Amino acid sequence: DLVYLNGDYLPLAEAKIPVLDRGFIFGDGVYEVIPVYDRRPFRMADHLDRLRRSLAGIRLADPYGDAEWQALFAPLIEAADWPDQGIYIQVTRGPAPRDHAFPKDVRPTVFIMAMQLSAPPPEVVEHGVAAITAEDNRWLRCDLKAVSLLANVLLRQLSVDRGCAETVLIRSGHLTEGSASSIFVVRDGVIMAPPHDNLVLPGITYDVVVELAGQAGLPVALRPVTEAELRGADEIWLTSSTKEITAVTRLDGQPVGDGRPGPLFRRLHAAYQVYKH
Ligand code: PDD
Repeated sequence: DLVYLNGDYLPLAEAKIPVLDRGFIFGDGVYEVIPVYDRRPFRMADHLDRLRRSLAGIRLADPYGDAEWQALFAPLIEAADWPDQGIYIQVTRGPAPRDHAFPKDVRPTVFIMAMQLSAPPPEVVEHGVAAITAEDNRWLRCDLKAVSLLANVLLRQLSVDRGCAETVLIRSGHLTEGSASSIFVVRDGVIMAPPHDNLVLPGITYDVVVELAGQAGLPVALRPVTEAELRGADEIWLTSSTKEITAVTRLDGQPVGDGRPGPLFRRLHAAYQVYKH
């Protein structure tokens, strides 16, 4: 359980940050989760790009270049017990006397750990998962991977309370994303998902799925999806770095399509398994 904190590698239990860290006090920081398959980071450049955009969005400079980040990950990837991992990176505006305004002298806190990553189990691939919908009440910069996740946490818990795997979010009559995933909808053979804008996190797995669908010659339409289109979908999928691609087979207690993972899900899921190695 080796972790990286501000220049040092140490056991997780010994990693401590000051209570006045702005990440703790204000949720003033951003994060990334990079999947690692067989000890090889997956789409690392894309994840580091997004980290850089999140940092720029909160007006923090990226402390490292791609090669430096990769060098920081290497000992953690090597030391972890599992070949498949999720590299968790968090950068905050660092410790400072409590004041909403940025401190003059910013010393960012950089924390990195390798978490165990398990692919969705066979029964989930076989049967899919249940989800509920809720009104998306988050702020208007959902494109930033901010650690201030209170709205996401509360929305996710609504699905936990109902024994469901995800909360699918709807804003002003349109699908946005899941509480911790991107959402795709299939209708009449067309794969649809909301385009990347300020209302959704630009998912790296989303980009992979769009690429794989294109390579397979499947029609993809990245455009706004209405709540009615979501509810009338033949297939619904959620995607994320930790969930890969997972079929949603029940939405608000109703079956999606025939209630089983659909044919396009099977194709994309298979393509993803090949691509990830
Ligand atoms: N969450 N949308 C939200 C709100 C997310 O939190 C995530 C991922 C995604 C999917 O992004 P990607 O495919 O790049 O993982 C979309 C991560 C896994 C998390 O918070 O743990």
